[in-house]
Amino acid sequence: MQNAHSHNGAGHVDFVGAGPGDPELLTLKALRAFECADVVLHDRLISAEVLELAGKTAVLVDVGKAGFGPSWKQQDIDALLVEHALNGQRVVRLKSGDPTVFGRLDEEIEAVEASGITWTIIPGITAASAAVAGIGQSLTRRGRNSSVRFLTGHDMKGFADHDWAALARPGSVAAIYMGKKSARFIQGRLIMHSADRETPVTLIENASRSDQRVMATNLDRLPADLTAAEMDGPTLTFIGLEPRQAAQALTEFNKEHA
Ligand SMILES: C[S@@+](CC[C@H](N)C(=O)[O-])C[C@H]1O[C@@H](n2cnc3c(N)ncnc32)[C@H](O)[C@@H]1O
Repeated sequence: MQNAHSHNGAGHVDFVGAGPGDPELLTLKALRAFECADVVLHDRLISAEVLELAGKTAVLVDVGKAGFGPSWKQQDIDALLVEHALNGQRVVRLKSGDPTVFGRLDEEIEAVEASGITWTIIPGITAASAAVAGIGQSLTRRGRNSSVRFLTGHDMKGFADHDWAALARPGSVAAIYMGKKSARFIQGRLIMHSADRETPVTLIENASRSDQRVMATNLDRLPADLTAAEMDGPTLTFIGLEPRQAAQALTEFNKEHA
């Protein structure tokens, strides 16, 4: 059946970045797409506050987790996107952070494109940007690091391999997504490549959300401190960055006055 938003009966897919969780970090463009969507297929990490902003008539589908636990298969998500769009619906495929960062975006674009469906990407604020703001630091800094790496802790083959020699150099900064399980592996590889054991490491759990937590440690203590901290929310790990003193003090102040 056609609907008000379809063009010539054809649907459309917007791949939308939901940002890190704070609904105020959603872009106006994302909000507009969201408000006029017929169906929203969203990931597990999308916060409830963001989902509340969907249009009243939009159907929300959680494709991050099936009813009884296991994750949705990528090909089933692709098929659902195509099915709704071919029905003439305006589909928002909502991904946490920025859809272009560790978001399996290309697979979905290819599926949509193969069916002749039009699509756009609406970027969002990625977790690394929110997390670095949470510790009052910059991702790059003159005289310290003129580049920053976004890494995944694991890929389809297991723990992901990277240019450890470059990462181990003093001043190098990396934002590690999905890095909790691979913390010991990363520590081992960096030390093997002569990284200083005192290199600062900061973990930010639930960046930008009301339950954000920051843990400052160093490479030497990383695995032990991570186990002790019991972080079970989405967590970003920075190698080479520590919280700015003032940001740390402010976090403590806010906690005391909450
Ligand atoms: C599949 S990746 C998706 C990344 C997302 N596309 C982005 O741009 O932020 C999921 C990982 O992102 C990180 N992440 C997402 N939201 C986060 C948040 N609010 N705080 C900390 N880390 C977050 C975590 O490392 C999580 O395991």
